[in-house]
Amino acid sequence: MKILITGAAGFIGSQLAHRLWKENNDLILIDNFSYGKVDNLKFEDVDFENSIIKMDIRDKEGIEKIFKENKIDYVYNIAGIAPLPDCQSNPCEAIDVNVNGLVNILENSRKYGVKKVIQASTNAMYENETKFPTVESNFELPTLIYPNTKYCAERFAESFCDTYGMNVTCLRFANVYGPHIDCLRKQPPFVAYMIRELFYDRTPIFHSDGNQRRDYIYVDDLIDLAIAVQKGEGFDCVNCSSMVNYSVNEMYQIASEIMHKDIKPEYANDSHYWEKYPSLFEGEYKIKESILKNEINKYSLCDNTYAKEKYVWEPKIDIREGLKRVIENECELLERLKDN
Ligand SMILES: NC(=O)c1ccc[n+]([C@@H]2O[C@H](COP(=O)([O-])OP(=O)(O)OC[C@H]3O[C@@H](n4cnc5c(N)ncnc54)[C@H](O)[C@@H]3O)[C@@H](O)[C@H]2O)c1
Repeated sequence: MKILITGAAGFIGSQLAHRLWKENNDLILIDNFSYGKVDNLKFEDVDFENSIIKMDIRDKEGIEKIFKENKIDYVYNIAGIAPLPDCQSNPCEAIDVNVNGLVNILENSRKYGVKKVIQASTNAMYENETKFPTVESNFELPTLIYPNTKYCAERFAESFCDTYGMNVTCLRFANVYGPHIDCLRKQPPFVAYMIRELFYDRTPIFHSDGNQRRDYIYVDDLIDLAIAVQKGEGFDCVNCSSMVNYSVNEMYQIASEIMHKDIKPEYANDSHYWEKYPSLFEGEYKIKESILKNEINKYSLCDNTYAKEKYVWEPKIDIREGLKRVIENECELLERLKDN
């Protein structure tokens, strides 16, 4: 199959590319490298560095040329601005990439007859939900910029399906973890951050009391589902979660055991969350403390029954095994950086 993956130099996109390559698909990879890394493109058995195309998903001419010159069967639109505070502090860019970028992909998929588009969506859109485990339908609409961009993107995907009879699945990922998770960015995901701090024998700072619970999904399990949904027709939104959640403290305990470390974390006030983004605390209207509190203390648990029943999928990697694999990969990277 000929498959286009956008965001292929990122954490999830690169792992997806590797797996689809191993399954003998013909890949077209693009990324604008705003967050992606060349390092992610190098695997033991293949290096995508020379084949990836540096392009923005909003590039109308460039993207159309790719669709015109290749008979693409499936598109995985994994490109996006994922860090919440980045989206919050640069809303125009976030909306442009996460919404207009997808629409550009959808319009070309329509014109050039793509069988199915699979969109990277998020369980962050359940931020105001109070019923758990959360099912795909009937949830309270989100407040923050990032989940709203992904929510709007889903609405446009549905519009293309309803109007033109296209096929799109929006996979609402829970917190994804696995090798290539980005531990070096300004605000790394929690899993990457705690491993990095343990690696350097530093005291990690967790906001709130560490009892907040989130559900996770290991990247290989996510990829199994992303491949399974190629079959579905029409439009749907599918939770991609292990349906098991862990507190920050529980995750830290498991990681500390695996890494044989014994460092007590520090707990910081909720209101200091996102303090690396001073623009959010400046101007006539500042970000509300209640919003920061809600985000840091958010409880998340997504129901995965729909994915299991419709797509005959089952997450296989438990948290200990998954964390072991991420730790191995992240420590290897941090060791290499130390040497350079
Ligand atoms: N990691 C998670 O826990 C998680 C959870 C829910 C949803 N998602 C979504 O999954 C997708 C991938 O997440 P990730 O964790 O791999 O993030 P990532 O930042 O590692 O990867 C995203 C990639 O998209 C690229 N990109 C950004 N804007 C682009 C543009 N305009 N044109 C082309 N490429 C562009 C970046 O350079 C990066 O390589 C994102 O859309 C994110 O919103 C991730």
